[in-house]
Amino acid sequence: MSIEIRKAKQDEAGGLAQAIHDLHGEKFDLEFGKSRFNYLIDKNFIIIARDTETQDFIGRAMFEAIEDPRFGTGMVWGVEVWEGYKGKGIGTKILQTLIEEASKYFADYNVPLRFLYVFTRSSNHQAKALYRKVGFREGPLLDRMFTDEQPQEQLMIADFRNKK
Ligand SMILES: CC(C)(COP(=O)(O)OP(=O)(O)OC[C@H]1O[C@@H](n2cnc3c(N)ncnc32)[C@H](O)[C@@H]1OP(=O)(O)O)[C@@H](O)C(=O)NCCC(=O)NCCS
Repeated sequence: MSIEIRKAKQDEAGGLAQAIHDLHGEKFDLEFGKSRFNYLIDKNFIIIARDTETQDFIGRAMFEAIEDPRFGTGMVWGVEVWEGYKGKGIGTKILQTLIEEASKYFADYNVPLRFLYVFTRSSNHQAKALYRKVGFREGPLLDRMFTDEQPQEQLMIADFRNKK
């Protein structure tokens, strides 16, 4: 299996949105997704994993600078590895690549990377283990952030302030 992990290019926004729609159906709005990914790739970035033999998208993670890029803080969301590819270190590599690219992104604004944060279900032990592995730590638990039914959300924060 040969996998490439890198920033998505502008002409990949539509294909990525389609691949996620194929995976999640109507839970993922295709037109909204295309336009959002176009914006993200243009102004922020998306890390993708593709199987170089099939050209299929097999993983992703989205990065958005918070408020003003000169603050050096960003949010991570939409971290996902497709079934059949999980448990092979791809999620780890996606997040390590995202952290490297976030440093470069903020360097363009002459600021160091300060914080990255991500929300995950408090019951999502795999995701929490992945985030911990690449340097995030548990922050506050938040109740009913996205729906009334779901369990608590765990805020995970990576602090880069004392790192080179
Ligand atoms: C969470 C997710 C992205 C992990 O991706 P992955 O490619 O399988 O992760 P990796 O293979 O790099 O594993 C990273 C760490 O996660 C943990 N992990 C991975 N698979 C696991 C499993 N089946 N059981 C328990 N922990 C597991 C381990 O700590 C692992 O580190 P280790 O191999 O050094 O022990 C993937 O499971 C996924 O897409 N889940 C569904 C979507 C989701 O929940 N996303 C997070 C939303 S916030």
